[in-house]
Amino acid sequence: MENELYSLETEAKECLQNLSDETQAEEFRIRFLGRKGQFSTIMRSLGGVSAEDRPRLGQLANSVKAEIEQLFEKKKATIQNTTSLSESSAGPDLTLPGRCPAGGRLHPVTLIMQETCAIFESLGFSVAEGPDVEQDYYNFEALNIPAHHPARDMHDTFYVSDSILLRTHTSPMQARIMETQEPPLRVIAPGKVYRCDSDITHTPMFHQVEGFLVDKDISFADLKGVLTVFTQKMFKKDLPLRFRPSFFPFTEPSAEVDIACVMCNGAGCRVCKKTGWLEILGSGMIDPEVFKMVGYDPKVYSGFAFGLGIERIAMLKYGIDDIRLFYENDQRFLSQF
Ligand code: PHE
Repeated sequence: MENELYSLETEAKECLQNLSDETQAEEFRIRFLGRKGQFSTIMRSLGGVSAEDRPRLGQLANSVKAEIEQLFEKKKATIQNTTSLSESSAGPDLTLPGRCPAGGRLHPVTLIMQETCAIFESLGFSVAEGPDVEQDYYNFEALNIPAHHPARDMHDTFYVSDSILLRTHTSPMQARIMETQEPPLRVIAPGKVYRCDSDITHTPMFHQVEGFLVDKDISFADLKGVLTVFTQKMFKKDLPLRFRPSFFPFTEPSAEVDIACVMCNGAGCRVCKKTGWLEILGSGMIDPEVFKMVGYDPKVYSGFAFGLGIERIAMLKYGIDDIRLFYENDQRFLSQF
């Protein structure tokens, strides 16, 4: 029995060394240390040894078993340690489906702004930007709108002080550029403009692109040509244009330009109020008074100017019927562009 104990001890120690995972550890426990395991079997056979040997052998059996149990617990702890370590050092599970980050996108007004600028740049216009907080002089005075002129009423101006205001249109850029540069000029000036006005077709801040061209022998036909190319490229179809006589103090003659309604193709619908036409911009031949103010000789030079509303074009192009949607930052709206 003594020999049996020693060989069981050796066998158990060898097996212990080869244990490498928790399943093997459990198998080991059942085989050696369990209730029906090899140590229990030996203990039970103690009953058959002589009474004088029994205490010594019993003690020996107990101490061998205790030693194996101790070694086993240690081994089990190392196994558990290394498995949890190897799990964490394995890094992320690359077989899991990925999480897609929400991508940013451009605002519809930005998209139309960029497209508008690109079309005019392809026609040889260069881009200039000016201040949103503007002097009364450039916003009105230099554009042939002196103090107390009735045209000022149309503008619903936000004043900062008596002589400083938030520009009500991009036309001040005509005066700013012409004042510092000589013709020939072909410029567009995109930017924000401000008017104290708010309903489904007006917001207190909106965007315009000003365009003007000054050279010798520029006529209304040139204006018509440039705007025709612009609308064809913007709306991707050959839309008829209509020039309606109008009035702006800084252009003479002046015209508001309509395009055939993009919704009903001119047949008449709710969007065009049954007229078949939609207004998209104001324009005209630059007034000789404006030329005089910037020091150009109106007998030598002529030119045209126009100012188009970007939100207006975005509404027509995307079929949006309330301008305020652009400025509510509702992701359900914005994510469609
Ligand atoms: N500035 C005018 C407006 O905002 C539009 C315009 C620009 C008209 C250039 C004529 C020439 O209403």
